[in-house]
Amino acid sequence: MGDGSHQSLPDLTGKVAIVTGGHTGLGFGTSIELAKHGARVYIASRSAAKFKDAEREVALECPEADVRFLELNLADLNSVMCLPYEETVEGFEMQIGVNYIGHFLFSRLLLPMLQITAEKAVKGSVRVVNVSSDEHTKLAPKEGIISSDMNMKNDFSVWARYGHSKIANVLHLKELAKIYSNILALSLHPGTVKTNLSAGPISSTPLYRLIKPIVELGAPGPRKGAANILFAAVSPNLKLESDNGAYLLPIGKVSAPSKAGSDAKMAEDLWEWTVKALMSRGYE
Ligand SMILES: NC(=O)c1ccc[n+]([C@@H]2O[C@H](COP(=O)([O-])OP(=O)(O)OC[C@H]3O[C@@H](n4cnc5c(N)ncnc54)[C@H](OP(=O)(O)O)[C@@H]3O)[C@@H](O)[C@H]2O)c1
Repeated sequence: MGDGSHQSLPDLTGKVAIVTGGHTGLGFGTSIELAKHGARVYIASRSAAKFKDAEREVALECPEADVRFLELNLADLNSVMCLPYEETVEGFEMQIGVNYIGHFLFSRLLLPMLQITAEKAVKGSVRVVNVSSDEHTKLAPKEGIISSDMNMKNDFSVWARYGHSKIANVLHLKELAKIYSNILALSLHPGTVKTNLSAGPISSTPLYRLIKPIVELGAPGPRKGAANILFAAVSPNLKLESDNGAYLLPIGKVSAPSKAGSDAKMAEDLWEWTVKALMSRGYE
């Protein structure tokens, strides 16, 4: 697993995985390896056509793979990440809405099932993994989560909003690990990986096109680049007792997130804020 070739992934027969954005980029790199190693993989995507393409690609490498479509639109809009200011249908700024709040609600709805499964499954095998970014240490506001202005509409760049959503990914699972101690919750930085992610920065900051080759110099593609996500999802080296709520740098290195990303009180407050924000919009 550590070399990115994914040869040493364990047999995943009988396991079920849900991968958001699993038809493309890092999500696809994750879906295909999990499926090739025997897991049933639900590719959660807003596009049935894109799922079909992904399904075909998986079948070419592994005809017996079990991949299924789960329709999921985290924002009801068309884009994500480092975009000019937009809002989701529920009035959240797009990046915090899709990267964090959509995923918070999705995992919250799955928690009852995850808990029942955790009671019967091998300890530490039921997991929630958030793909954060090391950019949370550099781009987010220094004070961390700005709960008084979660949309950060004025006075902040798209980059700051991205970093903010990525700190939220870290704090989300820190708190989930505390509340649901039988579910192994992990956030991570995947490394710099060549994916469609750069479409966002290019549309919001056209000059990014110029520095993109430098940023991506030597970066792997999404198949190899999924190694840290796969490690977090299935490595038996990660333990419920010692690693719950951890943040991983590639590959599989338990590391400290930013100061704000390590703040237990901030994690608790963010959880509370999110539950209230969702309840006020009719989501329990
Ligand atoms: N690539 C890197 O270097 C890097 C570094 C650090 C962190 N990350 C993180 O890795 C994660 C995956 O990114 P990626 O690099 O694989 O980028 P990507 O290729 O652009 O993939 C993004 C995925 O998110 C899906 N998505 C966007 N909006 C959605 C919505 N409203 N509802 C449901 N799905 C939606 C996209 O689906 P559509 O095809 O329908 O748009 C796509 O599958 C992100 O959280 C990113 O922040 C990436």
